[in-house]
Amino acid sequence: MIVFFEEGQNVESLSQEWGFETSDVEQLEPHEFFMPGMVDTHIHASQYAYSGTHLDLPLLDWLNTYTFPVESRYEDLDFAKDVYTKVVKRTLCNGTTTACYFATIHTEASLLLGQIADDFGQRAFIGKVCMDRNSMVPDYKELTEECKDETDRFIHELLKKKYALVKPVVTPRFAISCSSTLLSNLGKIAKNNDLHIQSHISENKEEVQFVKELFPDCTSYTDVYVKHGLLTDKTVMAHGCYLTDEELKIFHERGAAVSHCPNSNISLISGMLNVRNVLNHKVKLGLGTDVAGGYSSSMLDAIRRAVDTSKALCMQDAHLQPLSYKEAFRLATLGGSEVLSLDDRTGNFEEGKDFDALRVNICVPGSPIDLFPGDDPEVILEKFLNLGDDRNIVEVYVAGKQVVPFPDF
Ligand code: GUN
Ligand code: ZN
Repeated sequence: MIVFFEEGQNVESLSQEWGFETSDVEQLEPHEFFMPGMVDTHIHASQYAYSGTHLDLPLLDWLNTYTFPVESRYEDLDFAKDVYTKVVKRTLCNGTTTACYFATIHTEASLLLGQIADDFGQRAFIGKVCMDRNSMVPDYKELTEECKDETDRFIHELLKKKYALVKPVVTPRFAISCSSTLLSNLGKIAKNNDLHIQSHISENKEEVQFVKELFPDCTSYTDVYVKHGLLTDKTVMAHGCYLTDEELKIFHERGAAVSHCPNSNISLISGMLNVRNVLNHKVKLGLGTDVAGGYSSSMLDAIRRAVDTSKALCMQDAHLQPLSYKEAFRLATLGGSEVLSLDDRTGNFEEGKDFDALRVNICVPGSPIDLFPGDDPEVILEKFLNLGDDRNIVEVYVAGKQVVPFPDF
């Protein structure tokens, strides 16, 4: 739902009605509106350091050549602080009010990411990455027992901080990086602490084949996660390009969710998710930037790429219905909230929910959007989704608090 200002309404009356703070009280013009904040259901905060580069290898080579060497640097807390501050600020400016982050294997740096998200007022899930095998960077993996203990410590320490909007998420990197023992331990940790779980699934054909070889007793990639207690109604799995209908049925039955990351899927030439098929199976679905397999940290980009991918699939199958901009908008907002089981609190402006919102102004100086007589609210929203950027997002609110422009600390 979008709120265009009606005559006589202003930010002050709205702030009283919805109980949010605002330092800037003024009548909004017709070219300004509020929309729900966007939810990035899959983003690697640590990979922001090289976003926009290194997109010339397929997934498994890409991980060993570029990703693991950079992620291994987060033992250095100065480096971590620099990158994590920049990614939280950048995503907030881009209108991401909720982010589901992968950090790295390092507990201290992962806790620091939680602190930075809290400092800047972003709603966030933070995952200390778990991996105990198949890394070609010798230092960039943990021993199985150590990984379990550090995950326990991370969860305990993060919960101890009692951040209002920042929570831990159990994060096995993917089945290739984790032994069966580690996966089982993580399934137990998630269950015992009633936590969210995030990982990757069926992103790339070579990956799917390797998982088959590693887990010969499992009937599918999905079955690997099911057997280890990792596919629950609080699970979000990124990609899913090669999930079969059988696997999608299991996702639906278990209430598990898919994060569609179209920029990354194209950039790493991984695959094209048939979003329509996922929706037809009534599987919870949201969008993710997957920084830095995806080169953009903007959910507006994710919306555009999701529509483009669905149109590209239509060129191969004339019976498919492409994703409309309204459907993509829903995936980026309420869809993402459903994926993260936050839809009782965020995702739209239903009464009783928190005010996670963007104030959008189409006519800021230097705006990339031109309006013409007769452009009605729907046209204005479509233009913003297709042409707009952070210059148009003049204020961001999370749980009623203004977080953009940034306060002076
Ligand atoms: N699969 C396992 N790890 C990763 C990662 O960091 N990025 C992407 N795109 N896929 C993965
Ligand atoms: Zn990812």
